[in-house]
Amino acid sequence: MKTMKRFMLCLALGIAMPVTLTACRSAETEPEPEPTAETETDTAAEGIDYLALVNKLNPLPEGWEEALETVTVTNSMEDEVEVEARAYAAYELLKADLEENDGIYTELDSARRSVAAQQEIMEAFTEKYGADYAAKTVAKPGYSEHHTGLALDLYFKIKNDDGSFTDVYYNEDMEKPEYTWIWDRIHEKLAGYGFILRYLEGMEHVTGYRYEPWHIRYVDSAEIAKEIMSQKGLTLEEYLAGKRAPEVEIDLGTSDLFKEEELYDAMLAIKCRFGGWADCELHSIRYGGDEAADAEKLEWLNSLSEDAEYTEAAEFLMDFTTGKNPEDGFNSEYEYKDFQWWLARSADGDWEIVTYGF
Ligand code: DAL
Ligand code: ZN
Repeated sequence: MKTMKRFMLCLALGIAMPVTLTACRSAETEPEPEPTAETETDTAAEGIDYLALVNKLNPLPEGWEEALETVTVTNSMEDEVEVEARAYAAYELLKADLEENDGIYTELDSARRSVAAQQEIMEAFTEKYGADYAAKTVAKPGYSEHHTGLALDLYFKIKNDDGSFTDVYYNEDMEKPEYTWIWDRIHEKLAGYGFILRYLEGMEHVTGYRYEPWHIRYVDSAEIAKEIMSQKGLTLEEYLAGKRAPEVEIDLGTSDLFKEEELYDAMLAIKCRFGGWADCELHSIRYGGDEAADAEKLEWLNSLSEDAEYTEAAEFLMDFTTGKNPEDGFNSEYEYKDFQWWLARSADGDWEIVTYGF
């Protein structure tokens, strides 16, 4: 049986109690069922969390690689692509459906990437396009959804009159208006096979990345995928934050330092980070008040991050519960109260979550 390691919260402000958040389920050794177009959550293979949130705020959960099962396939460019096993089985069904019913021929460009491979991509993009463009397009090594094996980048082939195929492979080619109908058709069919579109148009402020019609994400449940895809513009971040914060109380208080929308942006960053904490439920978030973040706190936050030049800081307090995990000192009966979040920003910069804990 494979098990995943737990990941520890950084308790930065003195130890009141150890809090450990789990991102795992235990794995079974029996052969796994083949997914179908209507794969349900309760038939999912255990071992990895198919709803894990990996984004700019949430790195690949620890222990992921030990629990991950992959297959390696060769694409039409003769490149080897590694994919999480169930995601690949579902992708094969999607691909066959698109070929048979729509005359659309998809291929896999990139699926699972190691941290080292992501580093190479980041360096190549930074060199070619500059750091700002790279940050909007490529995830920091350790923070790419591609590390999970559940993210698949598609490209497609166009069938020529003589029966041969031409690969449409580069981003700038795939984004041409003449191919919009192809992406629309692919996106319509994703949810039926347990996939969602991950980086939605106009949602960069939540996902952290520009629109990518080719980047799909397997969630191992057609039901959940349909719930997400049927609500136009709903990101995985917001879906998970909603599930883990069903009736969250938000109190942005009053502030002479920040406008309400500035505090709202900070709160959204916290909610999106919290959305990655499996087995947790958020009950309330409140602004800690203008007096909480004085010059001393700002100096402390600057000291925590290399090269930080924060000029403003804000504290938020959260109440939440966690999943049952007694062996790690968890207490599922306990309401964790006044859990602190410290955010800071530099002049003209966005809020960054610098640290959190008791
Ligand atoms: N292109 C996506 C954001 C990645 O690099 O993971
Ligand atoms: Zn991708």
